[in-house]
Amino acid sequence: MLDIKITKTTHPKQKPADETKLGFGKKFSDHMFVMNYTEGKGWFDPRIVPYGSFEMDPATVVFHYAQELFEGMKAYRTADGHVQLFRPDCNAHRFMDGCDRMGIPPIPAEDFEQAVKALVKVDEDWVPHSDGASLYIRPFVFATDVGLGVHSSKNYTFCIIAAPSGAYYAEGLNPVKIYVEDDYIRAAPGLTGAVKCGGNYAASIKAGELAAKKGYAQVLWLDGVEKKYVEEVGSMNIMFKIDGKIYTAACVGTVLPGVTRRSIIELCKDWGYEVIEGKLAIADIMQAGRDGKLEEVFGTGTAAVVSPVKELTWKGESVEISGGKIGPLTQKLYDTLTGIQWGKLPDTKNWIVKVD
Ligand code: COI
Repeated sequence: MLDIKITKTTHPKQKPADETKLGFGKKFSDHMFVMNYTEGKGWFDPRIVPYGSFEMDPATVVFHYAQELFEGMKAYRTADGHVQLFRPDCNAHRFMDGCDRMGIPPIPAEDFEQAVKALVKVDEDWVPHSDGASLYIRPFVFATDVGLGVHSSKNYTFCIIAAPSGAYYAEGLNPVKIYVEDDYIRAAPGLTGAVKCGGNYAASIKAGELAAKKGYAQVLWLDGVEKKYVEEVGSMNIMFKIDGKIYTAACVGTVLPGVTRRSIIELCKDWGYEVIEGKLAIADIMQAGRDGKLEEVFGTGTAAVVSPVKELTWKGESVEISGGKIGPLTQKLYDTLTGIQWGKLPDTKNWIVKVD
């Protein structure tokens, strides 16, 4: 149990006046959680302080060798004004796994969860009231040793910031076009594809930009060895409904084990769908598209929730999905998941953790 010292701001910021124009991760709440680590001493000085800058030496390890990790989660306000989290234990455990892969000393899951809850409680008034808007929470940890030797740092900072946010995509729940990336790769066995480290995203930016120039919202990554099997999309996992069955890539080390992903798999199974987690060849998906069997495609992620895909382009060929509209299963999943998250539907699966 952390003994968190709270210092409240004496200069509260103006909260966004129009919650329909929040965007994603643009404005931040009044406070942040910070805790430090030194080898031999462990994690120490857990505190909530006014949101502000870090002063860092230009030779700090994270700037050069990217030893860091992050999480993404949300706090939701229910119609009766309560604030709640969605499966924070899953983020806490995934963060521990990620720390292990990145050579970062783990933050015990219960401390991670306590810190998230404490920050949300202090900045409770920053949790939006409007439908579809939430407080996006970004825990992250980074190496703070100073020096240019490549080694595991002996000092780290763990921080949590929060941003009142709306939809991740400007398109909202409108279906997006996805470009299947055939040149660059995101992950390969033994690398860091299964953890949420910034380097994975840094490596993806160029391909994302090139796809955006061609009019696509995101790229779909293929496996890094054969460039044959679908893995995930820029900021989400991805699922395909083909001939009544749901397919998604297995989390075997190159795919991020998404919290939304596993929740959606559980819902689909509850509803009687067969869900196949395994290798799915892009060639077979395109063929299903040509045969009219590619019924729905959607991305899943904390930021985007469920994001319908209306078109896939691979090697110059495009297939249209669901007539360019959101499919019925995608809509049902979105309604059910957001219904549970915002407290409009009963939490029959014990996914909700109340903050107040
Ligand atoms: C999330 O869905 O929370 C993410 O972390 C995606 C992010 C890279 C925008």
